[in-house]
Amino acid sequence: MNEKMQGFSIDFFSLKGKVAIITGGNTNLGLGYSTAFAKVGADLFIPHLIDDVAEVREIAEKEGRRIEFLKGDLTDEAYRKEVIAKCLETYGKIDILVNNAGMNVFGDFQTYPNSLFAKIVELNQNTCYYFGREVSLEMIKQGYGKIINIGSALSFTADERSMPYVISKHGVVGITRDFANELGKFNIQCNAICPGFFATEINADIDPVIYERIAKRLPQGRWGDPADLMGPAVFLASRASDYVNGWLLNVDGGFTCVI
Ligand SMILES: NC(=O)c1ccc[n+]([C@@H]2O[C@H](COP(=O)([O-])OP(=O)(O)OC[C@H]3O[C@@H](n4cnc5c(N)ncnc54)[C@H](O)[C@@H]3O)[C@@H](O)[C@H]2O)c1
Repeated sequence: MNEKMQGFSIDFFSLKGKVAIITGGNTNLGLGYSTAFAKVGADLFIPHLIDDVAEVREIAEKEGRRIEFLKGDLTDEAYRKEVIAKCLETYGKIDILVNNAGMNVFGDFQTYPNSLFAKIVELNQNTCYYFGREVSLEMIKQGYGKIINIGSALSFTADERSMPYVISKHGVVGITRDFANELGKFNIQCNAICPGFFATEINADIDPVIYERIAKRLPQGRWGDPADLMGPAVFLASRASDYVNGWLLNVDGGFTCVI
């Protein structure tokens, strides 16, 4: 056994003393990442668009963690800069970024408005790139960091009436690989979590027939729960994944491995 092997312990999965920015970390799947990180030791900074932050605040405080918020629209460059400045002012560093904010609006291929297509791609893909790059500039100064982008099962497959979502989530794969390539030399790892189907607001409008069809197609026979993402997120945010870079971690109950 070499020295590094000797030094390994469960502490490699701890985020004690770490600071994590989780975009949209106050709702649904984002709340899962926030809860996971707070439970294993991280302080949180939550950029949020909708007001309701009471639950995530309570969770963090119950775990004895600090939590700060800044409300705004992440597609606005000035706001993104403010988030980074306020996080640095509060905590003095940014160890982890989870690019979780995203949106979807279903619509017919033949009539989908270009303006809506542009809006979704701007948030899901372009803002993932812009904010990741902006945060990485601070991580480069620190000499380390972890960026976790949120892709989707639709980063690998297409689905009906979801063109901008499918296209932008495929873009997240490219961003993840490109960042791994650009940032590896600075000891920054960039990976993606690709959730399968989770019954959250983002797909609240889904037809019950399609919901069942998807559940039947899943090897595990059920839609995901936000708790299913907690372990994978902690792994990618922690020292335990220091040699994992540019990878896509599918958390989808096996969806993408079957026909
Ligand atoms: N629910 C699923 O089944 C599923 C599956 C795969 C991937 N995802 C991805 O997971 C992430 C979270 O999705 P969710 O299901 O928790 O839905 P959600 O709607 O709760 O999460 C999206 C979050 O992004 C925020 N947001 C939206 N537009 C924003 C903007 N312009 N600026 C700042 N914040 C903004 C919302 O306020 C919300 O907090 C998204 O990236 C989504 O694409 C979800």
